[in-house]
Amino acid sequence: MEKTGETRIDYSTGRLVTADEKEPQECHVKGCIPDWLNGDVLRNGPGEFELGPDKFEHLFDGHAFIHKFVIKNGKVKYSGKFVRSEKFKTNRQYNRILCGGLGTKSYPDPCKNIFSRFFTVLTTSPPLENCNVNIASLGNVHYALTDGSIAYRFDPETLDTKTTVNMIDVLNIPLSTAHPHVDTNGDYYNLAVTFGRNANYNVVKVPASSSSKKDPLQDIKIHSSIKVDNPLQPTYFHSFALTENFIAFHDQPYRIQVPKFLWKLATWEPAVDSFRVDPSRKSLFHVIEKKSGAQIPIRYETKGEFCFHFVNSFETSVEGRNFLVIDLCCPAVGYLNEGIFILKNLRKPMVPYKTPTKFNRYFLPLEVDETTPKDVNLVNIEGCMAEAKVHDDGSVTLTGDVVLDMPNSGVLELPRINYNYNGKDYRYFYSVSFLDEDGGGQLVKADIQTKSGIKWKETGCIPSEPVFVERPGATEEDDGIVLSTVINQDPDEPVFLLILDAKTFTEIARAEVKTKLPLSFHGIFDVKS
Ligand SMILES: [Fe+2]
Repeated sequence: MEKTGETRIDYSTGRLVTADEKEPQECHVKGCIPDWLNGDVLRNGPGEFELGPDKFEHLFDGHAFIHKFVIKNGKVKYSGKFVRSEKFKTNRQYNRILCGGLGTKSYPDPCKNIFSRFFTVLTTSPPLENCNVNIASLGNVHYALTDGSIAYRFDPETLDTKTTVNMIDVLNIPLSTAHPHVDTNGDYYNLAVTFGRNANYNVVKVPASSSSKKDPLQDIKIHSSIKVDNPLQPTYFHSFALTENFIAFHDQPYRIQVPKFLWKLATWEPAVDSFRVDPSRKSLFHVIEKKSGAQIPIRYETKGEFCFHFVNSFETSVEGRNFLVIDLCCPAVGYLNEGIFILKNLRKPMVPYKTPTKFNRYFLPLEVDETTPKDVNLVNIEGCMAEAKVHDDGSVTLTGDVVLDMPNSGVLELPRINYNYNGKDYRYFYSVSFLDEDGGGQLVKADIQTKSGIKWKETGCIPSEPVFVERPGATEEDDGIVLSTVINQDPDEPVFLLILDAKTFTEIARAEVKTKLPLSFHGIFDVKS
């Protein structure tokens, strides 16, 4: 469709279908799956966007649907099930959207009576969280997660929903990220914000010893806290960095307007416009020593940027000076209240996004004192454009280098790495592009050393976040495979699990299944022997 000279594309096809719940069924495998690749692909995302006459209005509001591909001895089985959240159960009971979400209104009675809503407000908040963003595994225990207070434990075999953990009950935490890290020793870390008189950014932790328990998230404790500079407007975050010695996060100009946010929840209104950019703010990095929980007392400042996803972070030394390197994925679009997440936009033809995502690398000097040279660049690496300049007051101004220069790749997002390289110097990451020129998408393997990427793309196909699985015995970072669930712009075409050779980024095999499945956000691979 042509409008004002721009090509417009219907992005809703395929992406916004209602998912089919499926008991395990055999997939049709094309190609040859490596005999070492045995395990479960588990992925999470919104699976239902309308009930009866009602439509969700925000992509993050759709009912959480978990799908699974079980790979065993070269064969693949598919299954999928909705998370039985309170929101899902209520909405399904009445076949209406009574529990909306971030961008959708809620109603306390099935007649959607506005007066009833008025009298019910301020008495209780609707159950909005259905955890459709990611999956966390602590040992053999699995949770569906979102950027919120609730996590749903589910059975990874049957995909049945089991128990609910509410961080508000456990630690009075209203928001924690959907991207926890698991340390090399099995300790589980996440980042959470608290409101009110104790407005803090908190690192929270579940020790590895708890992962053998039935519900390990119940053991979550505060590891360390940093005061929020303006308790009424803490930053929004969705991910953070974990290295051998440090935890770091990005304090960005995108802020949560806390009074408005709480009022919207109390009045059953969508809270998405409580998130706002404060153009007067720059971005800061906060760095915490993992062992002591103490914050590095250095103000790291850079230009204001928005970031959902850290790519990776690691500690390094340049000319005898220690740095924490942080790589951020900074898309040109991505604010929660921006057009690409609003379903009424996605249901209509849209203009393809052409502004490329920036993948920025920052070098944070870890020691600064009176002997540190002032107002000169401390990052002296040939070919690296990053800068770190210390000022007289001890603060540090950072300028990023770009680690991937890949024009015409659409909006690249959801970066993944070989997780064995988390917190370590690394060369590759894998990403997926959305809203590209034909309405499909592409997978990209990025080589940080050459700042270039190679693509996988197939006409009509919409791949999901690529997940790397290392080959047993691998000695090279990209020795393994990359997995992606691929849907089609034509929802009558089969869904398939794509299996790529990570080195060459070429297809080894695919496992097709006839089902309805919309786009998923994040997932994991559980290795099985
Ligand atoms: Fe995410």
